[in-house]
Amino acid sequence: APAEPLEEKGQVAPYICQRRTPLLHHNTALTDALETMAEEARFCGSDVRSLAFSRAASVLKSLPWRVKRIQQLHTVPCVGEHSQRIIQEMLEDGMSAEVEQVRQSERYRTMKLFTKIFGVGVKIASQWYQRGLRTLADLQLHQIKLNLEQQAGLLHYEDLNTPVELWEAEAISQVVRKAVEQISPGATVTLTGGFRRGKPCGHDVDLLITHPSEGQEMGLLCRVISILDSQGFLLYHSTHRNSLPSLEDEELWVSDHSSTMDHFERCLSIFHLGDLAGSNQGGAGAQKLGASTGSGASSLWKAVRVDLVETPYSQFPFALLGWTGSRNFERDLRRFSKHEKKMTLNSHGLYHLEQKIFLPAASEEEIFQHLGLEYILPEERNA
Ligand code: GTP
Ligand code: MN
Ligand code: MN
Repeated sequence: APAEPLEEKGQVAPYICQRRTPLLHHNTALTDALETMAEEARFCGSDVRSLAFSRAASVLKSLPWRVKRIQQLHTVPCVGEHSQRIIQEMLEDGMSAEVEQVRQSERYRTMKLFTKIFGVGVKIASQWYQRGLRTLADLQLHQIKLNLEQQAGLLHYEDLNTPVELWEAEAISQVVRKAVEQISPGATVTLTGGFRRGKPCGHDVDLLITHPSEGQEMGLLCRVISILDSQGFLLYHSTHRNSLPSLEDEELWVSDHSSTMDHFERCLSIFHLGDLAGSNQGGAGAQKLGASTGSGASSLWKAVRVDLVETPYSQFPFALLGWTGSRNFERDLRRFSKHEKKMTLNSHGLYHLEQKIFLPAASEEEIFQHLGLEYILPEERNA
């Protein structure tokens, strides 16, 4: 790390999207602690508090030096009082009693267990906790009603909580690409999400599908799903059939949800990734070997969460930017657009609220230009 810290010069920008945030940074112990606090706050339904811890963690990730004294943070934005207290504890004792207490608390551990089920959010997990449920077995014991998504989530709990590796993501992209090309030559499949930011593993695979001739993408996702299904690749899928609103529709830009909702046709799925041991066993009916050992290591196949999104070519750069993440980076990009530029940014486009015009873009670089921001590479968006 550079010997001369930047903090005295007050160079740390207030918005995440103005900063470069690499995947590997110098303050991992501190950010892990703050992220635990952010998660705990989220589990309590305190989104504002959660965001505050999350922002503090993000800013520490962007520092090109290791924090050694709390004074170094006095000119760094986004580190609130409570975060400072945690950081100080960590710097002095190498651990924070408050964070450790959270990690060991029954509520936190149970909420973590339940929210790791695909399809279970804080609200439902919290209800189960209130009812006295503590383990996955308790769900069956109490005959808890689960929707199809949650049933699939529980069934594949082990696999879906085993990190997806890059080669697995690439293998799945290739399977989807083959199906897409079979239907519509020229259509493209792009790996986005965490993998595009250079993460070596992730919790799912995010894929964008588009076609260079506008309109050709329509209905593509639906047909791809039916091919993949017939090939035995899908353990679960649920398609959100959205009708793309016209970009001329002001609602899309001025409503409260204008920057968080998106209207693409999308599919949440669980893939059956076969042949992990290089065997030639078939897709659909394959028996899972060694599933009961819990490790999954001896299994010949693996369940993997995949998000598929279909986007018109003209909106592709916005969709790419929106789906590359990280969530913290996206949130601040939209906040910056709104508050600093009077623009609404979402995964469909960029709209100037006062001039009432669209700002089209052929690349992510152009979107950053419209916003007057320096271009930040995907690898630098790991906030
Ligand atoms: P891992 O999957 O854990 O590796 O991290 P990730 O960054 O890929 O997270 P995730 O797959 O949850 O999301 C990827 C990106 O897609 C994030 O930046 C999200 O903001 C974005 N995203 C996820 N769901 C939606 C959605 O419904 N609408 C929009 N517009 N973006 C979404
Ligand atoms: Mn992802
Ligand atoms: Mn995803």
